[in-house]
Amino acid sequence: MAIPSAFIDELVARSDIVDVVSDYVNLSPKGGSYWGLCPFHGEKTASFHVLPDRQLYHCFGCGKGGGVISFVMELENLPYLDALRLLAKRAGMEFPEGDLDESGRRRRARLLQLNKEAARYFHSQLHSPAGREGLEYLRGRGLSKGIMTRFGLGFAPESWDSLTKAMTDKGFAKGDLLDAGLAVSGKKGGVYDRFRNRVMFPIIDLRGDVIGFGGRVLGDGTPKYLNSPDTPVFNKSRNLFALNLAKTTKLGRIVLTEGYMDTISLYQAGFDCAVASLGTALTADHAKLLSRFTKEVVICYDADAAGVQAANRAIPMLEKTGLKVRVLRVSGAKDPDEFIRKYGPDAFARLLDQSENYVEYNLGQLQSKYDLTDPVQKTEFARSAAEMLAGLDSPVEREVYAGQLSELTGVGKNALLQEIQRSRNQRMRSAKRKQARRDMTPVTQVQPKARQMRYENPRSARAEEGILRLLILDGSLLRETEGLEPDQFSSPYLGKIYEVLRRRIREGRALQLGMLEGELDRDEIELLADILRHPEALENGKSAMADYRAILDTEQMKRRADDEAALLAAREKYRQKKSI
Ligand code: CTP
Ligand code: MN
Repeated sequence: MAIPSAFIDELVARSDIVDVVSDYVNLSPKGGSYWGLCPFHGEKTASFHVLPDRQLYHCFGCGKGGGVISFVMELENLPYLDALRLLAKRAGMEFPEGDLDESGRRRRARLLQLNKEAARYFHSQLHSPAGREGLEYLRGRGLSKGIMTRFGLGFAPESWDSLTKAMTDKGFAKGDLLDAGLAVSGKKGGVYDRFRNRVMFPIIDLRGDVIGFGGRVLGDGTPKYLNSPDTPVFNKSRNLFALNLAKTTKLGRIVLTEGYMDTISLYQAGFDCAVASLGTALTADHAKLLSRFTKEVVICYDADAAGVQAANRAIPMLEKTGLKVRVLRVSGAKDPDEFIRKYGPDAFARLLDQSENYVEYNLGQLQSKYDLTDPVQKTEFARSAAEMLAGLDSPVEREVYAGQLSELTGVGKNALLQEIQRSRNQRMRSAKRKQARRDMTPVTQVQPKARQMRYENPRSARAEEGILRLLILDGSLLRETEGLEPDQFSSPYLGKIYEVLRRRIREGRALQLGMLEGELDRDEIELLADILRHPEALENGKSAMADYRAILDTEQMKRRADDEAALLAAREKYRQKKSI
């Protein structure tokens, strides 16, 4: 990014979050912070919180959070640079357009070129001896060779530097690899391959450029999928996997799945209309993008509770763009990939034709549990249906279904709407209570919202969060982290945030959340905002830091011991196999 960082720091320093938010939201002060109605989801009681001392916002209702830049991005639905432009105008600063244009364009072209070469490299590895295991893995998942080629699948060898070597041989610099998210910087200034021993899914945009990668571990390691971070050419919330293929489908609709493999399986089975989001929840940008290519979206997420929840969030977003939305729930399989493999394409085609409007589907399910000729059961049904409708965030939807329900049960529409509102208020209160309880207990296992960020070691992650909080409160505490490297963090995301903070402290720069928003992904900012909301005492900063580090060390030791045990077991198994 060619915007001078000094400009960004000054812009953020001049854009007080309370001022900026107040342009859009009515805030009332309460005990050193501010509350208002959340602009991101409809609500009647204030659960939107702005903390001036940490320059962050957070909503207890919908979970959105961040600094001043992400607030503007989110609310005005703007990309990062446009949000900076808007804030600059507001603060009366001149935006350095000149710095951006030429150098930015050249940089993007360079990174795209590198991604293309990397995709070629991974693909060639898949068909070389080093990629045998990867090829076997993909075959084992039922993919034909033609499909692997169609999607440009590849393999990243079990090596710390094979890609880095191959690409530097082609004339790319280590900085290029870092900027493209293909390499990670290690200790002592070196770099190493981000993707190792994984099958690789290139992510290709509408122009046909490779903008990023997803890499899946062979077998059961963690994390299961590793994705490219956001880079100057890759933005997870604006791109969808396989849209480059699905955009020309003749099937008249686009099927939205959760995973790369779901999309590929569907494609292989003849449904060339599938896309997947990239490990993040569906965004308003995704919805808009889809609406450019189709009139109807069929949501086909995993059959588990998380899938149902994600669908519930996606529906209103898609509907807002004028798309017709249907929901297809696979039964007897955990996801569309498994469904196709178990029951075949015809069974899926039938489901696709039957897919119904989600709310109607749920109402139907509920209704079947009651005997509507019995007046008592009929009222019971009305009440639980109202409770279900309370989960709809769109007032229009609530209105429409309340009307239908009223006809079905003979209960007045207004009475139903009141019941729905009562239930919504109750939900909000209990969400707030739950959050308050979490805030009180430091060791509870709160997981980040974004799926791919889930903590594998919550105890260590809790301590890692503490380290980040301390550093932001007082950068001089960096001295106490001497010898602690980002890759020692159990959560790679927290490790990355640590790396960014450490660099900034060394450069003597400020650490306001808003200033970090160009260096971290949207999900990472949200995570950091959430971490910073929690209290941290500074008086005993040094000893707190030591405590956190001790936890990190112990957990790391445990992890190493586990890894070693697994290695020994694998070796043993191999020996036995050989002796047979
Ligand atoms: N995902 C991710 N990081 C993880 C887990 C999942 O980014 N640690 C994203 C990936 O984009 C993945 C999608 O979420 O494709 C769905 O995840 P999941 O349902 O766990 O994987 P499956 O599609 O079932 O993967 P597989 O079939 O390969 O087991
Ligand atoms: Mn799957």
